Amino acid sequence: MLSYQHGYHAGGVADVHKHVALCLLLARLAKKTKPFCVIDLYAGEGEYDLAAHKAQKTGDFKTGVERIWQSVDAQPAVQGYLDLLKRLNPGGELRRYPGSPAIARAFMREHDRLILNELHAGAYPALGRWARKDARISVHNRDGLEALVALTPPEIRRGVVLIDPSFEVKSEYAAVPEKLSAAVPRWREGIFVVWYPILKEGRHRSLLAGLSGVDAEVLVSEISRNAAKAGEAAAGLLGTGLAVVNPPWKFENAMAEAGDWLARKLGPGRHTASWLNRAKT
Ligand SMILES: C[S@@+](CC[C@H](N)C(=O)[O-])C[C@H]1O[C@@H](n2cnc3c(N)ncnc32)[C@H](O)[C@@H]1O
Repeated sequence: MLSYQHGYHAGGVADVHKHVALCLLLARLAKKTKPFCVIDLYAGEGEYDLAAHKAQKTGDFKTGVERIWQSVDAQPAVQGYLDLLKRLNPGGELRRYPGSPAIARAFMREHDRLILNELHAGAYPALGRWARKDARISVHNRDGLEALVALTPPEIRRGVVLIDPSFEVKSEYAAVPEKLSAAVPRWREGIFVVWYPILKEGRHRSLLAGLSGVDAEVLVSEISRNAAKAGEAAAGLLGTGLAVVNPPWKFENAMAEAGDWLARKLGPGRHTASWLNRAKT
């Protein structure tokens, strides 16, 4: 049975890193009039109430989104994300936090499509309620990697897939690159974003080793933090990582700008960017 519930961690450092990158990618896709498609394989509940018991219990958002959402010195690369937060919380109190489905929906036009998937018995109905009445959105209830195989390539070929399991099941570190290796050649135009936690056990290294076998360019962005210095009791998460397969042209520059700024504001921390399988130019 799945025990992870994203309501405890919404708006934490990992969400901020992942959602800033997602905003940058969606803004690129929305620049062209041709429709795009978003496939969110581990969608969660759609949107979160930061005043609710779960978010208050861990306080994860206090060391994440709360530290930056009203910054006046934001770099252009994070502005889209901050604007979205301000639109959701017009009164100036940070209460609503957009999950990846809400972020995707904020960028969608009439002909764009959002395909959501969630396995958890509690999160899936909540996601269905969040998505109801929007004919552009479909919601599935199956294993995320099974859905990756079944739902790609989508009919609309411009698009992005988000793969951010909770990694409760350790075999996911090997299964994610294995399934991606099969999906990428079937959908060459697709951008695939994999999020992973950096923990002291270092299991993400095997994930990255697996991703280096994917037949495409992969940009890796990591924000590592000194949690003890940042004054946090729970030093579990040492950092957050993103691997973007098939990143758009010059996406690395925007990600570097955003990552460096986030590491400074959420730190003390450090942002590093590197390539797996960079094509020789
Ligand atoms: C990190 S959270 C997702 C957060 C969300 N994508 C966001 O950015 O707002 C991971 C989600 O995956 C769900 N989940 C866990 N194992 C799953 C599986 N095998 N297939 C699909 N969903 C799963 C969990 O219930 C949880 O809601």
